[in-house]
Amino acid sequence: MKIYLANILTILASASTVLCGGYVLQDNIIGSGFYNAFTFENIADPTSGRVNYVDQATAQSQNLSYASSNDFILRADSWTVLNPSGPGRNSFRIRSIKTYTTAVMVFDIRHMPEGCGTWPAVWTTDESNWPNGGEVDILEGVNNLAPNTATLHTASGCTMPSSRTQLGTASGLDCNSATGCTVHFPTTQSYGSQFNAGGGGWYAMERTSSDIRVWFWPRNGAVPSDIQNGATTINTDNWGTPAADFPNTDCNYAQYFDAHNIIINLTFCGQWAGVVYSQDGCPGTCTDYVNNDPSAFSNAYFDFGSLRVFE
Ligand SMILES: *[C@@H]1O[C@H](CO)[C@@H](O)[C@H](O)[C@H]1NC(C)=O
Ligand SMILES: *[C@@H]1O[C@H](CO)[C@@H](O)[C@H](O)[C@H]1NC(C)=O
Repeated sequence: MKIYLANILTILASASTVLCGGYVLQDNIIGSGFYNAFTFENIADPTSGRVNYVDQATAQSQNLSYASSNDFILRADSWTVLNPSGPGRNSFRIRSIKTYTTAVMVFDIRHMPEGCGTWPAVWTTDESNWPNGGEVDILEGVNNLAPNTATLHTASGCTMPSSRTQLGTASGLDCNSATGCTVHFPTTQSYGSQFNAGGGGWYAMERTSSDIRVWFWPRNGAVPSDIQNGATTINTDNWGTPAADFPNTDCNYAQYFDAHNIIINLTFCGQWAGVVYSQDGCPGTCTDYVNNDPSAFSNAYFDFGSLRVFE
């Protein structure tokens, strides 16, 4: 009888944990573990960037990707002057083998790509069903221009309320199509050289059946203890107000979002970085810069401490 009661109490305790924002570690991806969890996509950039996404063998042989026991590096070529009529600058695009629906992803990032012409992104989508299966951009920006922007892209009919519980500022409430519904983060530390100057930090994205939320904590700021300590159970209720909040008020998540892979890529110029390149204060033309100034891309790299996924 005692045993049964203990079991019941355990079940009740774990059920209430789940309902209250508690999650358990499922995937703890560190160092060379990224090579098991992700595949390199050597595809043409759909947004026509001045980029050449290489395969894993090329990435490792050119040290564009490198893993140690606690770092995973992804970088662009920063030594080759390009032939203007040849392929773009070597870079990376990796996609997780697993897909996730309701989950919390915590990215410990020590350094992110910075510089004119760069367009890095950490995001989730179902590539075979875009845009109907939705897209969640967690970390994205161009030309080193802070702050970070988080964005949803969906099929038509999904919109966000103007009033939300978030620290960031919404621009665009219609998540449909190319523009999407964007939230600008509250601090410039969330992106580019200012992110890197502080040693980076943690990005976390929580997706439930009713909400998508994104947090950012700079490394030397106030960080929730479960994030800081790499705990195996986390509780998003203790994380405070997110930088971006996308509630399902006017968007049926079951209809607009399916199971997503995680994608991490770095392109150059293209339909976003290229278009606003001059207005962002960058020199010459984007394509010339990418072709002719390899050393300008020596800081165009990600250094991940870990990616931990909780369900
Ligand atoms: C590859 O990159 C890593 C990380 O930046 C560096 O520590 C290592 O020395 C590089 N290896 C070679 C052969 O250049
Ligand atoms: C990453 O890939 C997506 C979709 O294929 C594309 O829209 C985006 O421009 C790429 N971003 C980067 C940073 O490569």
